[in-house]
Amino acid sequence: MLEIRSLSAGYGPVQILWDVSLEVHKGEIVTVVGPNGAGKSTLLKTILGLTTRMKGEKGGGSISLEGRDISSLAPEEMVKQGIAIVPEGARVFPDMTVLDNLLMGAYIPQVRRYREENLRAVFSLFPHLEGRLNQKARTMSGGERQAVAIGRALMSSPKLLLMDEPSLGLHPLLVSHTFEAIQEINRNGTTILLVEQNVYFALEISHRAYVLENGRVVMEGKGQDLFKEDHIKKAYLAM
Ligand SMILES: Nc1ncnc2c1ncn2[C@@H]1O[C@H](COP(=O)(O)OP(=O)(O)O)[C@@H](O)[C@H]1O
Ligand SMILES: [Mg+2]
Repeated sequence: MLEIRSLSAGYGPVQILWDVSLEVHKGEIVTVVGPNGAGKSTLLKTILGLTTRMKGEKGGGSISLEGRDISSLAPEEMVKQGIAIVPEGARVFPDMTVLDNLLMGAYIPQVRRYREENLRAVFSLFPHLEGRLNQKARTMSGGERQAVAIGRALMSSPKLLLMDEPSLGLHPLLVSHTFEAIQEINRNGTTILLVEQNVYFALEISHRAYVLENGRVVMEGKGQDLFKEDHIKKAYLAM
């Protein structure tokens, strides 16, 4: 579904990603794990066209969705092509209600008619949101705001959901709920590219994973197989 080839990118003259290649097949949960500052958020921003692309060792690289180059699409076009993002830090519109936050995800014309259906799907995933629709987002807990942020992304009926560290800053009890929700979203038919520092949970739920360090992919494999790698055990799982 998503194919990234030899991607080099950064901010202005500063290069952060170095010849990154990865693919996400339809139906998968693929995770990019790596330490703080490795370039995980930069990778997601680059997919969305928000960074500076650079020439790498193998040229300018490419990003394609279902075989179509998406490098030059405007953000609204990305949504139309079926890409949605849950940004870092459970970002919601603080002064808007829960319902209005959710509806912001369904603003493009072709998904408006699925609003009711998508709202029902969000409530079945996060039942506690249904009783809170008129509450201002700023008055909610971190976990509830994260549910709103995920729900908002789902309102555009995405084929491919990008998620930037959905577990970051959450209470440990909520972390496993969040990963369960991610699995349910995937079972309901959405392909997921997740970036995470929480290596344990991320590998546990992923079909495949990539390890990003200093802006380069240093390892890839099945989530379960990476658990057995010495480097992963030592650097990420403190084993
Ligand atoms: N807007 C920006 N402008 C310049 N440098 C940035 C910007 N955002 C991130 N960086 C730098 O890019 C590198 C990778 O950051 P980031 O992609 O946020 O890592 P991660 O998400 O893996 O923690 C860091 O060195 C960071 O300081
Ligand atoms: Mg980040």
